[in-house]
Amino acid sequence: MIISASLMCADLTRLGEAVAELEAAGVDWLHFDIMDGQFVPNLTFGPDLVAALRPLTKLPFDVHLMIHEPARYAKRFREAGADFLVLSAEACSHLQRSLAQVRDLGARCGVALNPATPLSALEYVLDDVDLILLMTVNPGHAGQKLVPATLGKIARLRQMLAAEGRDIPIQVDGNVSFESAPQMAEAGATIFVAGSSSVFVPTMSRAEATARLRTVLAAPRPDYSRES
Ligand code: DX5
Ligand code: ZN
Repeated sequence: MIISASLMCADLTRLGEAVAELEAAGVDWLHFDIMDGQFVPNLTFGPDLVAALRPLTKLPFDVHLMIHEPARYAKRFREAGADFLVLSAEACSHLQRSLAQVRDLGARCGVALNPATPLSALEYVLDDVDLILLMTVNPGHAGQKLVPATLGKIARLRQMLAAEGRDIPIQVDGNVSFESAPQMAEAGATIFVAGSSSVFVPTMSRAEATARLRTVLAAPRPDYSRES
């Protein structure tokens, strides 16, 4: 299980300290939500912020591009220090070419699907991706409620990948809470973007919240199967 902490949910007045705190808390990756005010209504960070934080940690940088035609900026974010570049399928006119461009830059490549986008959008790009991100809220803002249909979507993607004999990890992003994360794991997710619903809950320290998320993800699920 990978925990990727979403930096847009950190205290934006002290991001450098937040990186150190998250690393000490034991998160696995740092997640950057890049928004352009066009593909999604919100605006967040650019490559200069990624580059400024890069010298502070060796944790992998998981850069989630919620921007129109993201391949235009892939090189900038790669040079800034992105290890993973995740492109929204809906934002790419030529998805396969955009994904191939990311790999040509030497980065790991992911494709993201909005909640209403069918899994069939992935059918012809499975050779081109290192992870698949299923959005469990509509992208754009932290603190939203889970779109319930996405839980079944995770399970269907896991079945689809198994039927193809592929082992591509499934990442989930949006309202990954202490309650929903175990259900997402049960459905087949292995990479968890942790934002305001878990690692950044105000009532806990980052270390306590990260430990709690690991505990709920590791806990055995109740077995409701019948004995006979
Ligand atoms: C949503 C962002 C998420 C967000 C998740 O558009 O992509 O990364 O920070 O955090 P919460 O837990 O607030 O949904
Ligand atoms: Zn994200």
